[in-house]
Amino acid sequence: MNIEHEIQKRRTFAIISHPDAGKTTLTEKLLLFGGAIQTAGAVKSNKIRKSATSDFMDIERQRGISVATSVMTFEYNNLFINILDTPGHKDFAEDTYRTLTAVDSVILVVDSVKGVEEQTEKLMNVCRMRKTPVIIFINKLDREGTRPFELMDELERKLEIKVRPLTWPIGMGRGFKGVYNLHEKNVYLFKPGKTTIEDQRLLINDLDDSVLDEKIGSDAGRLREDVELIEGVYDPFDIGDYLSGIVAPVFFGSALNNFGVRELLETFVAIAPPPKVRETDQRIVEPEEEKFSGFIFKIHANLDPRHRDRIAFLRVCSGKFERDKYFHHVRLNKNLRFNNPYNFMARNKSIIDEAFPGDVIGLYDRNNFKIGDTLTEGESFTFRGIPSFSPEIFKELVNTDPMRSKQLDKGIEQLTDEGVAQLFTQQDGRRKIVGTVGELQFDVIQYRLEHEYGASCRFQSMNYAKACWITSDNPAKLDELTRAKSRHIFYDKDDNPVFFAESQWLLNSAIENFPEVEFHFTSEFKTDSVIVNSGREAI
Ligand code: G4P
Repeated sequence: MNIEHEIQKRRTFAIISHPDAGKTTLTEKLLLFGGAIQTAGAVKSNKIRKSATSDFMDIERQRGISVATSVMTFEYNNLFINILDTPGHKDFAEDTYRTLTAVDSVILVVDSVKGVEEQTEKLMNVCRMRKTPVIIFINKLDREGTRPFELMDELERKLEIKVRPLTWPIGMGRGFKGVYNLHEKNVYLFKPGKTTIEDQRLLINDLDDSVLDEKIGSDAGRLREDVELIEGVYDPFDIGDYLSGIVAPVFFGSALNNFGVRELLETFVAIAPPPKVRETDQRIVEPEEEKFSGFIFKIHANLDPRHRDRIAFLRVCSGKFERDKYFHHVRLNKNLRFNNPYNFMARNKSIIDEAFPGDVIGLYDRNNFKIGDTLTEGESFTFRGIPSFSPEIFKELVNTDPMRSKQLDKGIEQLTDEGVAQLFTQQDGRRKIVGTVGELQFDVIQYRLEHEYGASCRFQSMNYAKACWITSDNPAKLDELTRAKSRHIFYDKDDNPVFFAESQWLLNSAIENFPEVEFHFTSEFKTDSVIVNSGREAI
């Protein structure tokens, strides 16, 4: 088996968006075009209804469904396409950030009516940090939205990335006529309410073709002007710039109407990168290496309380993963083998015998794994670039049943290993702070601690608003800060010191007062995190 050949066939990516922009709809349409599903409606939204944030059935359903749709694989044009699903709810954003560590590129969906929204900006920050190649899909062109040139400016300004339209809309809302493909120089006409995926291409030889005037009337003149402006303003599309994360090609369409999706998919398969090299704490790992390596980026608890096992999602980075073969768990320094590893075809899971770089497989786990763990064929290294991100909400964990402290400790330890939230402890180990990006996680944690571990707790609000990992080349300076601000210093699960501040202002003042200390918004310092002292906030 030629591993190089297998690698070149893989495209592993995620579709990301602010909730409601159309991620689920687009995912489904890509699966339809890819032939992985036959009918619309097969991919269920994994969103929790906004009105039901405390409805635990919905939380459970959310978790259940996202296990089923965590990875969707289909074959298109001889390529194996792996779409990694990301949660639709903003409170699960950290899950999305981590999923981004396991992909080689992303498609970012933007709602043409709402433009760039808060979550879009945050997700883009992670992509920019990792130099992930991004394709942008502007959705909902069947509605009256922002004018396309304004939208281009907004994308560049808010997402801090250069954009290059590859298709261009003709009208919008009720007057939406279709899109012009700037590369192929042809027009796709839009028929509202279309649910089939047949080709809607209208070939024209050049923009001056009078067929265009016949078909789209006065919009033809506007299109000609727009195209002239685009070619004048934007540099020609450079695939190298896309692959380096410098420029994002932009497509327009309406996922609900199957429109513009084919161009997106065809361009995606033509330009999206195959699995790339990955950095570890020891050396760079090439996908073509003979020996297997991979890392865990996501862990799901089993919903069935009778089974304590969990499912760990592993991204294969090099070599060949084989069922029943012993692999080395670097952190635990122990060898493990897996009888029933599985992969996913649309919504079905099946046991696999082997997997290649770019693939994501599910491993049954009995608490051996935590997020970021590396598996190898013997070598000891740990993949980098799977950091924890600074949480946004902090609450103190208060035990309300002292008889069951052990259960509580074990439960919170395991849940935070799964990445449900982050745990910070004060030096004496007495105060425990749970940090999340959303309120909903606290409900999930409390519910799971009670139902899975028989522990009971409550969360006490804290005034902290910011947390930064702190490092310094000068240990004395770090000591000085941790002593002077001891009330504000907690330790993460790997014993790294973290500075907690009540406000950005207080954080800034600490930064000013301790110029030799570096403040980081992610737990990985050397390559990925952006240092506050050097000016920019990561997330
Ligand atoms: P998300 O995963 O990003 O959160 O978004 P999702 O695909 O669930 O889409 C959010 C809403 O936007 C859905 O409507 C969906 O039908 C609609 N939508 C998606 N693409 C388009 C489009 O191209 N045009 C228009 N007009 N709407 C679009 P909903 O009412 O919230 O849900 P549903 O009842 O339709 O499922």
